[in-house]
Amino acid sequence: MLDVFPVSSKEFDGPVLVTGAGGCIGSWTLALLTHAGVKVHAFDLQIDKRRPGLLMDDAALNQVSWHAGDIADTQAVRAVVEKSGAQAIIHLAALQVPFCRADPVAGALVNVVGTVNVFEAAKACGVQRLTYASSVAAYGALDNGGAMSTLYGAYKYCNEQTAKVYSEENGLHSVGIRPGVVYGVGRDQGMTSKTTVAILAAAADKPYAIPFSGDVSWLFAGEVASAFIRSVATGRTGAPVFDLNGQYASVEQGMSLLKGLVPQAQITITGDPLAFPMNHSDAPLRAYIGDYGQMPLQRGIQSTYDSFKRLIDAQKIDPHQWL
Ligand SMILES: NC(=O)c1ccc[n+]([C@@H]2O[C@H](COP(=O)([O-])OP(=O)(O)OC[C@H]3O[C@@H](n4cnc5c(N)ncnc54)[C@H](O)[C@@H]3O)[C@@H](O)[C@H]2O)c1
Repeated sequence: MLDVFPVSSKEFDGPVLVTGAGGCIGSWTLALLTHAGVKVHAFDLQIDKRRPGLLMDDAALNQVSWHAGDIADTQAVRAVVEKSGAQAIIHLAALQVPFCRADPVAGALVNVVGTVNVFEAAKACGVQRLTYASSVAAYGALDNGGAMSTLYGAYKYCNEQTAKVYSEENGLHSVGIRPGVVYGVGRDQGMTSKTTVAILAAAADKPYAIPFSGDVSWLFAGEVASAFIRSVATGRTGAPVFDLNGQYASVEQGMSLLKGLVPQAQITITGDPLAFPMNHSDAPLRAYIGDYGQMPLQRGIQSTYDSFKRLIDAQKIDPHQWL
């Protein structure tokens, strides 16, 4: 599966630091970089290899250098950037929508101050290649008619503005990516993780109700990880921000593909559509960074289902934790 995504060690002559590396997209980023033979440093609150371990064997996991620390801790972030000798930083650490809603101050510390810490450390250490995760939720902070406003989206939009200022005032350039709904192995938290949980439920032969309907993006986790990697495959200028949605299709279409694979799947769809614009094209990002691979929806759902089945059988995932 990793071979769908073109990552080349020739584009890196130094290590890559990934923040939020124990999360879903972080895990795929570690897996892709390690598979390609690129040295990776992983930074997260704790050294928890559970999600990366769903994608990587022990030999691959052991090639990663792990660092525990809080992204909101300025000194800790500076220290890991220095110690790792990172040539590039892929900044993914964040608290998602429900966590920001439950604790706005923690959300701002992690999502806003944490991002400033990464930019400050990159500036101090002369790191020239930097990418960070914004979100489709940033549209809620813009006056664009109808996108849902969330603190999470407000913080992400703030990060985009922060990036712009660092580029203009400090010559520290970056690429921001606004992913839509990400699905795939490792996606187990956040408001939009429920399409993935439905695939897990089918693999576990359990009923499940997805709490939103309508059009979403089906963005395979490996595809978004690959796009982040390509963003730092060379130096960039400015602070452009791009949409990334993978395949635009409804929750219903995705579930009908799943039913085609697993006729006995007991998935229902309830609730309103998500009020985020997920039909924006990926073409500007693809034109800017080049080919990062693409996962067709049917194949992505099939591969996610097959992986969940294998992981449940191997007792590496306990579906009761999610269902
Ligand atoms: N998954 C999606 O659909 C989606 C969509 C749009 C944007 N994004 C963004 O992409 C990035 C990665 O998303 P994901 O799905 O992998 O999220 P995730 O929740 O699976 O992973 C986030 C990681 O950040 C870490 N983290 C949280 N607080 C931290 C702190 N104080 N210090 C260090 N690390 C901390 C967590 O431990 C976790 O491992 C995030 O910035 C997220 O906002 C995700």
